[in-house]
Amino acid sequence: MKRLAGADKFQNLTTSGSLRRSKNFSSNDVRAKKFLIKWNKSETVKNNQVKKILIIGGGYVGLVSAVCWAKVGHKVFLLEIDPARLKALQAGTAPFFEPQLDALLSAHLQKNLFVTIDVSAAMQELPDFVFLCVGTPANPDGSADLSYVWQAVFDFCKHVKKSCILICKSTLPVGTTAKIDNFIQIFLADKKLKIKIKVVFMPEFLSQGQAIKNFFEPDRIVVGLKCQKKLSMLKKLHAPLLKKHAKFFSMNFASAELVKYTSNAMLALRISFINQIANYAEKVNGNIEQISQAVGADPRIGSQFLSAGLGFGGSCFPKDLAALVHGAAELKISVSIAEAALKGNVEQRQIFLQKILTRFKDLTGKKIGFLGLAFKVGTDDLRESPALWLVQELASCGAQILVFDPQCKKKIKNLLHAQTFQELLQQDFLVIASNFDFLHQIQPQSFLQLKDACIFDGRNCFKETFFDGLKIEYYSVGRF
Ligand code: UGA
Repeated sequence: MKRLAGADKFQNLTTSGSLRRSKNFSSNDVRAKKFLIKWNKSETVKNNQVKKILIIGGGYVGLVSAVCWAKVGHKVFLLEIDPARLKALQAGTAPFFEPQLDALLSAHLQKNLFVTIDVSAAMQELPDFVFLCVGTPANPDGSADLSYVWQAVFDFCKHVKKSCILICKSTLPVGTTAKIDNFIQIFLADKKLKIKIKVVFMPEFLSQGQAIKNFFEPDRIVVGLKCQKKLSMLKKLHAPLLKKHAKFFSMNFASAELVKYTSNAMLALRISFINQIANYAEKVNGNIEQISQAVGADPRIGSQFLSAGLGFGGSCFPKDLAALVHGAAELKISVSIAEAALKGNVEQRQIFLQKILTRFKDLTGKKIGFLGLAFKVGTDDLRESPALWLVQELASCGAQILVFDPQCKKKIKNLLHAQTFQELLQQDFLVIASNFDFLHQIQPQSFLQLKDACIFDGRNCFKETFFDGLKIEYYSVGRF
C-alpha cells in the first residue's frame, strides 16, 4: 500500500505539470471523433426509410439517443420540459459533457433534430416511434421514483393521434412495462381511439464517456415485448446499429427489465468483490493488479471491471442495485449478494479515507491537492461520486482542498478549483480519485514538489514501482 524509497533529488520536471485542459482531456473526444469519422462512411437511411422519432426526455439517454438517431438520418423530435435545459439545447449546447455530443447536436439541430417543450406540438408530428427516456431517480427507501415516467405516459396518451411503438428506455422496476401497457390500452379503449400502441421495453446500456460509440456499436439489443408482431419493425429501425457483432434478443417485459438490473448489478458486484480482495491482498503483501490480471485471464471470468479502487458511483449502479434489492424484497426474494455489493462499496471509500487519517492524524490546515471529482474520468457527472464524498469528509476534518477536474469546473463553484494539475503539486499531499490519461506523461520526480511528498492513489494509476528510488510515500489500493 505504501512505498518509500531512497533518492531525494529533485530532477527533470517534464512540461506535463503545465498541461492544460485541451491537451489533457481531449483523448476521449478524439477517440469519439475518429469513431464518428469512420461511421460517416456507413450509409444513412434512404429517404423512403426515414422515420419520425419522438424522444421524451433530454437527459443523458434521451439526448444521446436523439442526436444519434438524427445522425442515422431519421427525423427526430426531442421533448424537454425543463426550461433551462431546453434553452441550452435550442442553442446547441448539451447540458452535460459527453465526447462529441455538442458536435452532433449542432450538426443536426433544426435540420433533422428539433427540440421542443410542447408535448402536444411534438405529438402533432405523428411519430412512428416514441422513446421514453425520463429519469427514474431513487426514493429514500431505495425504490425507483416513477413520477416522471407516469407523467410522460399520461401526456403521451392525452396527445397521441396515430398508431406507433412506445419504446421504454428508462430503467423500469420489474412489472412496470406491463402496467404502462395496461394503462395505455385501457386509456385508448376508454377514449374509443381507433389506434394501436405497442409498448416495448428496451434496456439502455450506454456508458458515460463512450455513449456515442456504444449507441452505434452496441454489444446487444434487448427487446421486451408482449407479442412478437412488431419485432420486425424494431429490427429494421436498429439495422444500421446491428452491422457489427451485436446480438439481438427478444423476450417478455419482465425478463428484459431484469436484464437491465442484472447487467448493472453483475458489474457492480465484480467491483465490490475485487475491492474486498484488494483489501485482503494489502494485508498479506499481495498485489491486486497481478491478481486481477491472472483471474481475468480465465475467459469464463473476463478481465473487465476488475479494477480495484475507491468503488463505484454514478447515476446507475447505486440506484439500480438499490431498486433491485427493493423490488425483490417486495416479493420476499433475497438478492443479498447485491446488498453486500452496495455495503462493500460504501465501506471501500471509508477504508481509503482511513488510510489518509492513519498517515496524517490531524488534517487541520493541511493543503490537499485532489484530482478528479466526477464519479469516473471522462464525465462531469457528480452523482454518487466517491470522490465528492471523500472531499467532503476531508474538508470536515479541517483540510483545505484544491480540486482539479476540468470537466466539472462549472459544477463545483463552491470548491477551490485549480486551473492546472501543476497547482495540485504545490500542495502538501495529493489524492487521486480518477485515472486521467495525462497522469501517465508525468515524470515521477515531478511529485517531489508536494510538500509532504505523499500520494494517496484511489485508482491505482501508477505501477507500484513507479516511484522507486524517490523519497515519495505512495499509498494505493490492494498493493503493499
Ligand atoms: C454503467 C454501465 O457500465 C452501463 O452499461 C449502463 O448502461 C449504465 O451504467 C447505465 O445503467 O446507464 P456508467 O455508470 O457510465 O455505466 O459507468 P461505468 O463505466 O460502468 O462505471 C461505474 C463506476 O464503477 C465508476 O465509478 C467507475 O469508476 C467504477 N469502476 C468501474 C471501478 O471502480 N472499477 C472497474 O473496474 C470499473
